[in-house]
Amino acid sequence: MLLGILSETKEKECRVALTPDVCSQLIASGFSVMIERGAGLRSYYSDEHYTSVGVEVVAEASSVYGKADVVLKVNAPNPSEIALMRKGSVLISFMWAATHPELVQACQNQGISAFSVDAIPRISRAQKMDALSSQANLAGYKSVLLGANSLGKIFPLLMTAAGTIKPAKVVIFGAGVAGLQAIATAKRLGAIVEVTDIRPETKEQVESLGGKFIQVKGDDSIRIEGGYVKGVSEEFLKNQQELVAKHVAEADLVITTALIPGKKAPMLVTEDMVKSMRLGSVIVDMAVEQGGNCAVSELNKTVVKHGVTVIGESNLPSLLPLNASDLYAKNIQTFLLHLASKDGFRWELDEEITKGSLIVHNGSPMQS
Ligand code: NAI
Repeated sequence: MLLGILSETKEKECRVALTPDVCSQLIASGFSVMIERGAGLRSYYSDEHYTSVGVEVVAEASSVYGKADVVLKVNAPNPSEIALMRKGSVLISFMWAATHPELVQACQNQGISAFSVDAIPRISRAQKMDALSSQANLAGYKSVLLGANSLGKIFPLLMTAAGTIKPAKVVIFGAGVAGLQAIATAKRLGAIVEVTDIRPETKEQVESLGGKFIQVKGDDSIRIEGGYVKGVSEEFLKNQQELVAKHVAEADLVITTALIPGKKAPMLVTEDMVKSMRLGSVIVDMAVEQGGNCAVSELNKTVVKHGVTVIGESNLPSLLPLNASDLYAKNIQTFLLHLASKDGFRWELDEEITKGSLIVHNGSPMQS
């Protein structure tokens, strides 16, 4: 089977789907690999790195799309790129199919099969394939560094002859994969960290990392399915907002990571809450691409609102392309070897990981 790797065409994307190291292992497993010239450069992998492990470098993206049995990407190709793929070939990438019906339609029109890595079930045996987690983990780390860099003060307590500097206060919304890494990173830098989440089990996880959990009174309306929040009452959200508002007003840095799969991100930091913050405070809204957790954040922009710097960078993993590409490539390698061997795909359509992630099979949609 011939695997094809392409340059990512999304603006500011620095990641690449396969690294030379992973290519070398896949070649040893019997696959052939072709890469578009320069596709690894923004992750600091040169064409020579790839050719040295047996990858063929080609000049044109269209040749890769036209020849590959399996196209591997970080972001989904756009419909005009999908139209270059051969009937019967396979695409593996992030797709976010629920919110991108045009991509699903393009795969159908082209008669290809498409697996979406964001739809791989969050089960133990799929952990090595879990690109959502590998990328969110790095994003959580980077969110703290971006926030710290925009803040006019340091994080740790510092006692000097000229006076004592109090530690910075960081408030984090959402203690999923990204939030937990943000807590650990902010703690390591010496901040006081306070955290809110609506999944009750996160309290223990937050405390084990040295964070303080902001406890909202329990509510039976919170529905959890497969580890995700599937629903929460308006009343609970109102109570949460009132309680958390006090903490936000005293925060130097607020990081929001709260998501509800398949839905718009919950609005958690209102404009009034932003107004209540001190001049020079910072907000990093990691949910900005899903509509944002903060009322005044703007997609892919850093804006100053009411004296508060609000960072709306949507692709934080791309700011750490070396690690992000390494981990993503490992996720893809494990996923691919689960689905296929050098001789072809197994197409076990009732198997849980296949069933969860296969969006289109030979031109037919698999999920509503
Ligand atoms: P996510 O990115 O969907 O959401 C981030 C966090 O926001 C979650 O903790 C969620 O509870 C929280 N949130 C939602 N609404 C909120 C609100 N109104 N206020 C405050 N917080 C709110 O979550 P992520 O990071 O993708 O993880 C989701 C779940 O999947 C977790 O339970 C995690 O432990 C589980 N998981 C399981 C894996 C496995 O078993 N293979 C791998 C990774 C995650």
